[in-house]
Amino acid sequence: MDYSKFYTPPSIAFQLVNELNIPSPNKIIDICCGSCNLLSAAKKRWDKAHLYGVDINEHIVESIKFKQMDGREFALEHMGEFPLVVANPPFDYVEENMQFPKLFSGPFKDFKTSRLEIEMLIANLLLLKENGVLLIILPSSFVEAERFLKVRKIVAEKFQIESIIQLDDATFGSSLIRSYALIIKNCEPMNGAVTKIGSAPCKEFKNTIVFKDSISLEKMRSGNWIGYEDTYIDNLRINIKRGNISSAYFVKRGIPILHTAKSSDSWSPSKRYVSKKATPSVYAEKGDILISRIGKSAGQWCVYDGEKMPISDCLYCIKDVDGSVLKTINGRTYNLPQKGVATRYITMTDFVFWINTCKQN
Ligand SMILES: C[S@@+](CC[C@H](N)C(=O)[O-])C[C@H]1O[C@@H](n2cnc3c(N)ncnc32)[C@H](O)[C@@H]1O
Repeated sequence: MDYSKFYTPPSIAFQLVNELNIPSPNKIIDICCGSCNLLSAAKKRWDKAHLYGVDINEHIVESIKFKQMDGREFALEHMGEFPLVVANPPFDYVEENMQFPKLFSGPFKDFKTSRLEIEMLIANLLLLKENGVLLIILPSSFVEAERFLKVRKIVAEKFQIESIIQLDDATFGSSLIRSYALIIKNCEPMNGAVTKIGSAPCKEFKNTIVFKDSISLEKMRSGNWIGYEDTYIDNLRINIKRGNISSAYFVKRGIPILHTAKSSDSWSPSKRYVSKKATPSVYAEKGDILISRIGKSAGQWCVYDGEKMPISDCLYCIKDVDGSVLKTINGRTYNLPQKGVATRYITMTDFVFWINTCKQN
């Protein structure tokens, strides 16, 4: 795999480094340093810090102490040494827990993964000194998908997750990768602590990162961070999820997937296809309520009546086990304002809020 096209653009790297609220670090490391853009951004902020770069491939960058080796091996040899760790690791498959089984100790004992970025996350956390901070870019699946629930719970239990920042899909170019930057502190989360939720608008942005939400420690520990909500309104339990497959993965032939469709009086989702390599985590089944998330149809909904099928990230799905949601919204049209400037959208919270208004009327 050629990772060079996924280097962190310097402007984003600088913006993210500026978000770090830490005392001046004497040593900064990136164990998948590639372009060294994250390290260079950190150097701009802390010019006296010593920079350490590791990469499986040769890279020569002035003022960085470079070592060519596997970053996971380096982490196992230098545990607890760094006050600041920066990372945009490769997103890839690995053979489950095979190459560096020693990574799976402490809180990660008995944990299994076949994802390289998760092994790299663990390796990066190992490098941290007490109260040290990790800035790491991970695919959106880490934050949103149910299959990473267990690792999210472990991380939220043992570390203070300070911020989760959604990066623009175009950050890494035309490949359209949905990703988040996380800021994680190596300390037991304090009671009452919250995780700030923000977004970094676009790749060459002059705007700053916008923080618009926060997640309680209790919710962080449950592993249900973003992309999954299980909300109660009075006694009405709403189990709503967003699909995890972006339209960038659509192909002409492959696994069928439900996607949003044009606005219409009797809106229903369209059928598209994704390659077999895609790993959908949210499926619609007969009786579920499907909602369009984006476009002019945002907010339109229907009761799904087809075969079990994965849904794209342009749909939300409500598992209406006892039919109480349908009873509340039946015959009604979503009528709250849509968000967005060029492209209209609604959030899960918007839809749940609307259900609540239906209940009151
Ligand atoms: C997505 S790039 C990120 C580079 C840099 N951190 C940035 O943000 O611009 C990932 C880098 O990881 C390196 N890499 C891949 N597998 C690795 C491994 N096992 N150990 C260390 N580096 C690795 C690749 O050579 C590539 O330079």
